Amino acid sequence: MLTFSESEYLNRQSAFLDELPENSLVLIPTNPKSVRSNDTHYPFRANSYMLYLCGWSESDSVWMASNSEGPWKTSLFVLPRDTKAEIWEGRRAGPEGAAENWPVDSAYSVDDLDKEITPLIECSNHIFYISGINPKIDSLLDDSVKEVADPKPYLDALRVIKSDAEIELMRKSAELASQAHILAMRAGGPGVGEWHLQSVIESCFTSNRAQWAYPSIVGGGENAAILHYNSNHDPVGDGDLVLIDAGCEVEGYASDITRTWPVNGSFTDAQREIYELVLKSQIAAIEACQSGARWMAFHDAASRVIAQGLIDLGILDCTLDEAIGNPLEFDGPYRNYFMHGTGHFLGLDVHDVGGGRQGDEDPGPELRPGMIITVEPGLYFGSWRTDVEIPERYAGIGVRIEDDVLITENGPVVLTSSCPKEISAMEAIIGQEG
Ligand code: GLY
Ligand code: MN
Ligand code: MN
Repeated sequence: MLTFSESEYLNRQSAFLDELPENSLVLIPTNPKSVRSNDTHYPFRANSYMLYLCGWSESDSVWMASNSEGPWKTSLFVLPRDTKAEIWEGRRAGPEGAAENWPVDSAYSVDDLDKEITPLIECSNHIFYISGINPKIDSLLDDSVKEVADPKPYLDALRVIKSDAEIELMRKSAELASQAHILAMRAGGPGVGEWHLQSVIESCFTSNRAQWAYPSIVGGGENAAILHYNSNHDPVGDGDLVLIDAGCEVEGYASDITRTWPVNGSFTDAQREIYELVLKSQIAAIEACQSGARWMAFHDAASRVIAQGLIDLGILDCTLDEAIGNPLEFDGPYRNYFMHGTGHFLGLDVHDVGGGRQGDEDPGPELRPGMIITVEPGLYFGSWRTDVEIPERYAGIGVRIEDDVLITENGPVVLTSSCPKEISAMEAIIGQEG
């Protein structure tokens, strides 16, 4: 079933194809199934470009568009109906179902891929293809003398601005993830298992017909200072913070929230000092998410608050300029404790398209209405680290606070605002089941 109206997909297709020259062939493959162990597969998740263009979610398929014989014609190549395979793997729409119920002009079996596209490769002047996903097309194009261009820049420019229908869905995704984090706070208590908090979060996703958008990170105590921790197998000790970075995917659209809170319901003074600093920097960064601002503006805002705070707490002994380092690269010593980007685009992919990644050319893309980004500064003081001095008072603390923010003409709108992040609001519900 289509997530959006047929016209939404057709509008996306024409906005994309209108940018391309005459006599072009476009091939957008989705991924094959992926083996997890022996003959067990990972749950299949379709390629986001395929979902964006036509909502097709079966594996091994290809979306094609050609204007070599006049106006654009679109097609899907899909797995054919096969009762024996469907008994084991699930129903397939087949070419007939695809042509009837998906927004394309025609559909074929993937078995006909070679026969159908070989003549089109030969007669087209321009070929746009995402390579590395479909080995059959990779080898057909390797054998041809045609130059192949990447269609992703055209599609990314569209995907980065969300339509009203996409924003509505992402609001739902953000709201569901917020509710899941509240349930986890309520389930808190000294000794609670990281795995238990994970199950509370993910059962909220599953029972609402959603799934996780990325493996949930539930790190108690020192584990909170490991950025991509997700083994979630330790109990969280009395007096420890737990950092939960978990978001869901609703109809393909991700949310991404981090909250950090004490499992026993009360921050220690040292935890509070670090938490309040991260919160202050996150609020400053959100305020900087104004339409027309460049990507670096919100990283700049977060970084300056963090760097000044580290000086004020006596963790850094230098001036603000020295703490920040090169003002274009933000490479000063504050990065020892805040070593990741302040945010990323969010959408069909949790780290969505649109640029704005660390290492990009400064000052990054311009923020525009309809973009959705995360804002997620953090501070990490893993006591096991040997690369830098860890102040004793803060040893073992890791804090990140992450919200999802819609850019509008009238300023930033926090889609995850129903998830508490003020200390008093969190302390009031931690361990309060029901
Ligand atoms: N959950 C991954 C991230 O925050 O970027
Ligand atoms: Mn994130
Ligand atoms: Mn996250």
